[in-house]
Amino acid sequence: MNRKINFNAGPAALPLPALERARDEFLDFAGSGMSVMEHSHRGKEYEAVHDEAIALVRELLGVPASHEVLLLQGGATSLFAEVPMNLLEKGKTAQYLITGAWGEKALGEAKAVSAMFGANVSVQSLGVGEGKEKSFTRVPPPSEVKCDPGSAYLHITSNETIHGVEFNADGSRAFPDTGGVPLVADMSSDFLWRPFDITRFGLVYAGAQKNIGPSGVVVVVVSKELLEKGRKDIPKIFQFRTHAENKSLYNTPPTFGVYMVRNVLSWLKSQGGLAKVEAANRRKAARLYSVIDANSSFYRSPVERESRSMMNVVFRLPSPELEEQFLSEAKKRGMVGLKGHRSVGGIRVSIYNAAVYEWVETLAAFMEEFLRGK
Ligand SMILES: Cc1ncc(COP(=O)(O)O)c(C=O)c1O
Repeated sequence: MNRKINFNAGPAALPLPALERARDEFLDFAGSGMSVMEHSHRGKEYEAVHDEAIALVRELLGVPASHEVLLLQGGATSLFAEVPMNLLEKGKTAQYLITGAWGEKALGEAKAVSAMFGANVSVQSLGVGEGKEKSFTRVPPPSEVKCDPGSAYLHITSNETIHGVEFNADGSRAFPDTGGVPLVADMSSDFLWRPFDITRFGLVYAGAQKNIGPSGVVVVVVSKELLEKGRKDIPKIFQFRTHAENKSLYNTPPTFGVYMVRNVLSWLKSQGGLAKVEAANRRKAARLYSVIDANSSFYRSPVERESRSMMNVVFRLPSPELEEQFLSEAKKRGMVGLKGHRSVGGIRVSIYNAAVYEWVETLAAFMEEFLRGK
């Protein structure tokens, strides 16, 4: 089998051991004579998988009793609407810190919900320029974030997958300090690549299809305080409390997706946990940024150094023609998924947990070779 060197942004590469485990268990799960997909979500076989997936999130991240872990459906996009539906109180304001395209989408849905509820949304945008020309090249240091103490919550996108800008948790671009205001983060593209202090957050959500599994599952970690405060005048299926009270088994969950999340998290644990995984991820990103920095007149990073993403490394070549040539030659060497998002162009290298160092080394060596030929 000739597996590709897969730099897709999401759905993204999955760890080979997690896929092999699924292959081995596919037809006969746990000696039951059935695939896990064919089991009832109320049966003991599936329930064990479901419980293990939740327990692994808790263990890997060190989630304390103050927070619940939920497994939801509908993609992170559904959470763009469900977060304000649950957390926006009448007459209150929700604050959105916009550092890229995904934050803008979240803001759009929050505005729609606030119009329904008679609430407000205020925006602090870090985009440079206006309209279509707007480019996002940085996240702010905590001192630049103006958090209104009366807000219902402050929403950030911890890693902007398209623009390649990321908060770095504990460095110069640490997560904003919100005082007592709940901090909410879309962590779809940088969940569980490193440890972070979950108690600083009221709510974190992440579509699984980048770092922790296939599409179809969204992991939510939410404080019990916000669960209790959440609105009750919205449909039950959209209330986070409903899912917390029913262990995310209120309705039929995406059972195979949750099973794959279990496989991926169990592999993550076998790697030695998040601190070990972080070191491996930083080594990969450092290799790519070192090629960019050593050849900055050819490979140009649009992102401010302190805001660089460790998950999505974006860069430009001197012309769109050279970028096309770069992509096609990379493809001949088995490297796929390198094309930048259609809205921004250029090259994007997504190096989530499952991307192994050897892939990055192959790409880095190719970048150096491609440059020498020009
Ligand atoms: C940061 C971020 N948020 C949200 C989304 C949307 O996720 P989904 O397609 O699962 O709704 C993506 C997706 O690709 C993303 O990268």
